[in-house]
Order: sequence, then structure tokens, then C-alpha cells
Amino acid sequence: MDMFEKCYQFSRANEVIAAGLLPYFRTIEENHGPVVKMEGKDVVMAGSNDYLGLTQHPEVIEAAIQAIRAFGSSCSGSRFLNGTSILHTQLEEELADFLGVEACLAFTTGFLTNQGVIATLVERGEHLLSDAENHASIVAGGWIVRARGGNVHRYATNNMSALENTLKKIPKDAPKLIVTDGVFSMSGRIVDLPALVRLAKAYGARVMIDEAHAAGVLGEGGRGTPSHFGLKNTDVDLTMGTFSKSFASLGGFIAGERRVVDYIKFNSQAFRFSASMAPGSVGAARASLRIIRREPERIERLRKISLEMRQGLKSQGFKLIESITPILPVIIGDDMLTFRFWKRLMDEGVFANAVIAPGVPSGMQLIRLSLIATYKQEHLDKILEAFRKVGKEFGLIG
Ligand SMILES: Cc1ncc(COP(=O)(O)O)c(C=O)c1O
Repeated sequence: MDMFEKCYQFSRANEVIAAGLLPYFRTIEENHGPVVKMEGKDVVMAGSNDYLGLTQHPEVIEAAIQAIRAFGSSCSGSRFLNGTSILHTQLEEELADFLGVEACLAFTTGFLTNQGVIATLVERGEHLLSDAENHASIVAGGWIVRARGGNVHRYATNNMSALENTLKKIPKDAPKLIVTDGVFSMSGRIVDLPALVRLAKAYGARVMIDEAHAAGVLGEGGRGTPSHFGLKNTDVDLTMGTFSKSFASLGGFIAGERRVVDYIKFNSQAFRFSASMAPGSVGAARASLRIIRREPERIERLRKISLEMRQGLKSQGFKLIESITPILPVIIGDDMLTFRFWKRLMDEGVFANAVIAPGVPSGMQLIRLSLIATYKQEHLDKILEAFRKVGKEFGLIG
């Protein structure tokens, strides 16, 4: 059979596309912060990870321009060779200082960071323990581990007895790495970090936490999940994060003990054989970090509107997965219904994300809102009104 036969036979999305209901790959024609132009119409963006609204901040834009002026549009090579600029090392030092850890290493994307760090650390015969709701990039790291003869254990999400049962089955002296999202990207739930850290200590496992949706969002000054629970980033062994969300840029990082970060720097294929973060991205990430440190009120506003919007949707009668993060998953419960609901929200001027299996278990299909700190009251009102109207139309609320 021809290698491309599967491509020619691929028809999964055709029916939904034909009905004009495909919620994915929609084109943004203009971006004005919380409002974007799509298909010729202004819509409130409620499906972006720009949690603090910094992608439109003049200081961030100017920093990206200045970085490009000084270092060009690309580093044209890997960090290992010609791709380390003084901007990269400054970003790493500033981030390590923010997180209160010894060292930090910036990768080209968040995906590569997870895949690369996990594949570098967990060797043949060693053990990776991974939450079932972890991001695809952690799963991809696990595939490499498995292919190289390591062991991958998936435990039920945020279920500490499932994690303990898994730990019990692994020989005591075998090297173990527990990897978990701090905030789970689909459900918006926060990991039970204090319990996870206690288990890790009791069973001699190392912990790596993915702070993609927690850095700049949770904890004191946006320091993330450990801080949310009154812990320090040194209470987990490794902190991973992305620059593509609160940091209004593109790239990823791993932070922790210097000797471990240095080991990853010299040994990770994903790090050594990818072109480094582009100068503009580094400039934008540094400026965002500066603003996060200087203006904690942005994080406060995000927290406040997250609680208000959650409360607003619940009082309209919608079912949400409980949490306190700016990720608001509204359960719809069926693929086509979710697509149709999504389309009607678009008609009403709101862009949100439709999430179906395998992103969530069947029956839990949902519309996921991700909120932005820079919304004005009119944007929040518009989102609530659109949900009220469409929810009634679909008989999901009374
Ligand atoms: C939890 C989590 N980890 C890692 C990533 C990958 O980051 P990036 O998109 O910046 O490569 C994402 C992005 O969607 C994420 O949600």
C-alpha cells in the first residue's frame, strides 16, 4: 500500500467542515488584544493563553523590536554553537532569580522542553511516573523513554493514592521521576502538590512540575503552583514552563539545581539540536517578566475575574469543572453539540475552545474559556450574555 494512502483516506473532519462547524484552524485577521477580527467580525477572544494580556503591551512589543534590531530576526543556530546571545543568558538568570532557584535553561518551545528534559533524564531501566492528564509534550517524552528501555507509569489524574500504589510497585532504590502539570490545561484543576511532594520524599522520587498555565497566574507574584501552596520552587526538583502563555512570547524553560540544569544543557538532544529562541521572543519574554514583577495587580485582576466569571456561569446553570484558575471548562457532553455550541458562540461574538476526545474523556466534551486580565467589563458581560443565550437555545440551562 502507498505510504500516503492514509492521507488520501483521511476524512474525519470533512463532515464538520462541510457543516461550517470546525472550531479549529480559524484565521485571525486582526489582533487587538482581548478583541480580534475573525471572518470579518470583531469577537472577544476567550480561547487564548495570553493570560495577562501582555502580547499587546507596548513595552513588550518595543523590547521584541529592540532585540531584533540588536541581534537580528533569528539566531540561525543552536544554543550549543552560535545560538547563545547575551539576551538568552540574561533571561535565564532573571527567571532563576524570580523562581528562587539556582539555574534556568531556555529551550526553543515548551513542547521541546518537556520532551527533551524527560528523554534526557530517564534512562534505560529507570522510571517515569506521569499524571494521566499531563500535556502531550510530557507524553511524547515518555515515548522516547519507553523506546530506549525506560519504564513509563501513568497514574489516574491528581490521584495521590494511585500515585502511591505505583510508587510502591517500583523497587526502592530505582531512580524515579514524577512529572505533573501544575495546572491541568483542559480541566484547569490544580495538582495536589503538597501531597505529591510528601510521597516523592517518602519514596525517594524526584519531582518535575509543568508550570505552563501556572507561572504568572498562581501564587505570590505569579510564582506558580509551589507558591500557591506556600511551598518554594526548591521543594520540587525541577520547574518547567513556557513563554507562550503569561510571558507573551514563544519558548520554554527548565529551572532547578545548577548541576542538573547543566547536565540537561550538555546532554539534551532537543536542546542541542534545535535553533535557539529567536531574539524577538527573548526580548518579549524578558519584558513580560519585568512587568509581572512590577505589576502584581494584573495577576490579582485575573484572579478576581476568574472567580466572578466562574460564579456567573454557574449561577446561569452551567456545569463547570471546579477550580480557581482562569481556565473555565464548561461541560457540554457530546462532540456535535459542542461544535454547534461553539459555532453559536462565534455568531454571538465570542471565540472559545471546543474540546472533545481525546482531549477530554467522552461525555466530558467541553467549551474551554481561558480568561485575559485586560478584559473590560463589557467583554466579560458579552461572554456571559452569549453563554446565557446559547445555553437556553440548546436547553442546557433553564
Ligand atoms: C501544560 C503544557 N505544557 C507544555 C506546553 C507546550 O508549550 P508550547 O506550546 O509553548 O510549546 C503546553 C502548551 O500548550 C501546555 O499547555
